[in-house]
Amino acid sequence: MAAPQRSVRCIVLTWVALHITTTEAVDRSNFKTCEQSAFCKRQRNVKPENSPYRALLNSLDVTRESVKLQLINEVNKVPLLLEVYGLRGNMTRIKINELNPLQPRYEVRDVLVREPPTVPLTVVGKDEDSVELSFENKLYKVIITSKPFRMDIMTGNELLLSINSRGLMVFEHLRKRKDSYTEKISNTVGSMWNKIKNVFISEEKEEENVENQEVKGESEAADEEAQAEKPEDTNSQKENEEKEDEAGMWEETFKTHTDSKPNGPSSVGLDFSLPGFEHVYGIPEHADNLKLKTTEGGDPYRLYNLDVFQYEIFNPMALYGAVPLLLAHNLRRTLGIFWLNAAETWVDISSNTAGKTLFGKMLDYVQGANEIPQTDVRWISESGIIDVFLLLGPSPFDVFKQYTSLTGTQALPPLFAISYHQCRWNYNDEDDVRTVDAGFDEHDIPYDVIWLDIEHTDGKRYFTWDPNKFPNPKEMLQNLASKKRKMVSIVDPHIKIDSGYKIHTTIQSRNFYIKTKDGNDYEGWCWPGSAGYPDFTNPEMRSWWASMFAYDQYEGSMDNLYTWNDMNEPSVFNGPEVTMHKDAVHMGGFEHRDVHNLYALYVQMATSDGQIQRSGGTERPFVLTRGFFAGSQRYGAVWTGDNSAEWDHLKVSVPMCLSLALAGISFCGADVGGFFKHPSPELLVRWYQAGAYQPFFRAHAHLDTPRREPWLFGDDNKLIIRTAIRERYSLLPFWYTLFYHAYRTGEPVMRAMWVQFPDDMNTFSLDDQYMLGDALLVRPVMEPSVRGIQVYLPGKGQVWYNVHSHQRHTGPQNLYEPVTIGTIPVYQRGGTVIARKERVRRSSSCMQDDPYTLYVALNGQNTAQGDLFIDDGHTFNFEKKNEYIYKKFNFVNNSLTSSTDPVGHYKTAAWIERIVILGARKPATVTIKLPDGTESNLNFEYNTETSVLTIRKPAVNIAAEWSLYIR
Ligand code: GLC
Repeated sequence: MAAPQRSVRCIVLTWVALHITTTEAVDRSNFKTCEQSAFCKRQRNVKPENSPYRALLNSLDVTRESVKLQLINEVNKVPLLLEVYGLRGNMTRIKINELNPLQPRYEVRDVLVREPPTVPLTVVGKDEDSVELSFENKLYKVIITSKPFRMDIMTGNELLLSINSRGLMVFEHLRKRKDSYTEKISNTVGSMWNKIKNVFISEEKEEENVENQEVKGESEAADEEAQAEKPEDTNSQKENEEKEDEAGMWEETFKTHTDSKPNGPSSVGLDFSLPGFEHVYGIPEHADNLKLKTTEGGDPYRLYNLDVFQYEIFNPMALYGAVPLLLAHNLRRTLGIFWLNAAETWVDISSNTAGKTLFGKMLDYVQGANEIPQTDVRWISESGIIDVFLLLGPSPFDVFKQYTSLTGTQALPPLFAISYHQCRWNYNDEDDVRTVDAGFDEHDIPYDVIWLDIEHTDGKRYFTWDPNKFPNPKEMLQNLASKKRKMVSIVDPHIKIDSGYKIHTTIQSRNFYIKTKDGNDYEGWCWPGSAGYPDFTNPEMRSWWASMFAYDQYEGSMDNLYTWNDMNEPSVFNGPEVTMHKDAVHMGGFEHRDVHNLYALYVQMATSDGQIQRSGGTERPFVLTRGFFAGSQRYGAVWTGDNSAEWDHLKVSVPMCLSLALAGISFCGADVGGFFKHPSPELLVRWYQAGAYQPFFRAHAHLDTPRREPWLFGDDNKLIIRTAIRERYSLLPFWYTLFYHAYRTGEPVMRAMWVQFPDDMNTFSLDDQYMLGDALLVRPVMEPSVRGIQVYLPGKGQVWYNVHSHQRHTGPQNLYEPVTIGTIPVYQRGGTVIARKERVRRSSSCMQDDPYTLYVALNGQNTAQGDLFIDDGHTFNFEKKNEYIYKKFNFVNNSLTSSTDPVGHYKTAAWIERIVILGARKPATVTIKLPDGTESNLNFEYNTETSVLTIRKPAVNIAAEWSLYIR
């Protein structure tokens, strides 16, 4: 039909136009506030008071695995089921669902890597009003209080956290809508009957009635008590005292969109109190500071995956991804609250110390009026159940381990993926790709991957190529392969509705599209115009999607072509808040409302599976995603979406990636240079320098911006950018080892300062500097015209070396570091060993067998430790066949030893060409001893000014074991 087609084009064009015009900020009116979101408003209107919920201790059901009991809402009498689990590794899980929901409520699937192993939970005490459980050899206690219902988690006599202590729990039960018409009729009939009845009741009878009613009244009360102890199992007649028809319960309109809500109200909310905690973090994705702010007087932090055009920074609005994990940290302990719910979620944070100045707090202390600081966190989700994991730490690394034992660790990326990526919307055709690729060689700048955005396709039909601009994709890919480079092409999840497009017709015929509430295929508008949205929650759909990445399906693809999944929130240009209608229907009859925040994870999961399958299971995948959820770390990288070429956007990229890293997603980066607008050369240079020290390092730019290849900003700037990129390449062995650890143990690659220095309060709010692993401290320059910068070097007696000048500093101190445009301050922590490759070539694979330089930074005790992980850089053989080398370096008593994990075996020609010892004394001799007993002298240089000892050509293979003696 012509008319709708025109309007489709119109909307798409408007969207493109919007993306192109440079209006200043987000149009907030496109997105809901809590007040405009009916369930959030209803829940937030419940103020702290006595909770109507009561735990029915008589219903206690204890098994080895769990403790179950019923909760009753004393107002509506709807029974709920509470389940408590002790989980291995200092965690507990608390689930609350309706005992008998009208229909199954959605429980999140595919996020937990397995059913978490439980530990026995035992009842250690019980009285009329409470029951005490313990787990992990009585290390932790859970006290459930009956009236009102609350739970307290303790260790010894220390209260760690309380649940529903502010009485904010709200569990909206599913109900049948009272048809207002039927209700009116029955009300009319009822009042007529009363009138008739009255006529027949004599005064005498009425007196009798009064007496009877008094007697009945007493017995009803007793009955009710019993009734309450023995909860009812139907939901009929229970809503008498509840507000049944508040606005937004059964239908809600926002702008021009009406959400039909066939299941009525279904939201859940619960409060957690954290005594002793003033610092909370996590719940990405928000363009905000690392330390979460209190939300009193403003909106809660929102978790609802959205395509927010020109997002504003330093506010709690929702963005592209959501991880419902919050961390709390104080000098003694780190805790995590993982709220496993994929529906729209809001998180309110309040604190009894918020707003108090340091002076105010000191005054409290001096006057003895210091109440224990406490943070309260309230979670509100639109549907699903309450399923919450309490991660009891006690250390930050314990929490990382706990969280990743539930949701998985960061996938180990192929080496090329942590190298430099060159992207823009768009590289126009094969010639353009060839020229840009050659430009990197000409200007001697390393890069690994060139990216193709949506314009490379045949009319935004993903898995295809524009026949005029990209007629010979294989030739193009082969050309890149000859330089050991790769390409990424974009594959978005919206599918052009076109009867001549195989992907569409197959999805349609196999009934894989998400449905509207009326059962038709859901259609929305996105880049291709009218599009369908595959139901990625359906495992059959996912496996079909994965099969589309086979080389014979995705024509023109080769093994050096990888994937970018964008717009997977999902973005629907003409949908409510630019996303899908919540009453759309997925497999199993669940509403989009229930699974919204999971959609992106499923898209990336299916894509990543596709890449693994096309190689017969041998090659590691690389998929970049914009939307994400808890667990997305298992499938690849995330970037922070459409930022702007502004200093503040550069600044916020650091806390954004730090928050993601706290929540398990280490592989994070921001568009270098800023997506919208055109950066000044200074901003671009600073962004490259910062990006080189962020895990995912990709330059990207909007369609409408002037070209930005690194050599277009004059020779001086080119050289600085080149230095920054080369610095990244020389550090690749270190980055790769950090990713290996993230994969193995769940520890973040990029770390908030407090993670590494948990007992130094000065680090708790820092988010303009961070650690890479435990070895490098990075303080990017994120302000214009800077001549010097303030850096906090933590740690009592901790030694730090500036990696450029090798100047030594001792912590803790606030250091004023002079800076030039040439570099940013980076420090190696004394006590660490870092491996670099200093012969930078045109791509990471070209450097595979290149020699290493070890940087040994001595601490105050003249010791240092470090490690190095090496494999082929791209297959699963490190895991399946133990084809890897894992080295440990240990410097103690003036000798450096290199030991090798005996399980791993991988052959490499790479050797050690140099060992640089920072903070060394001048030696007389340096000798190296090999396992066969041979010992030889090595050449060295000593710089008395910087105390740097450079040992030349130890010339041992990197896999070898040896000892170096400095005498
Ligand atoms: C979205 C992405 C952006 C991409 C554009 C076109 O705005 O966030 O990175 O370039 O779509 O595909």
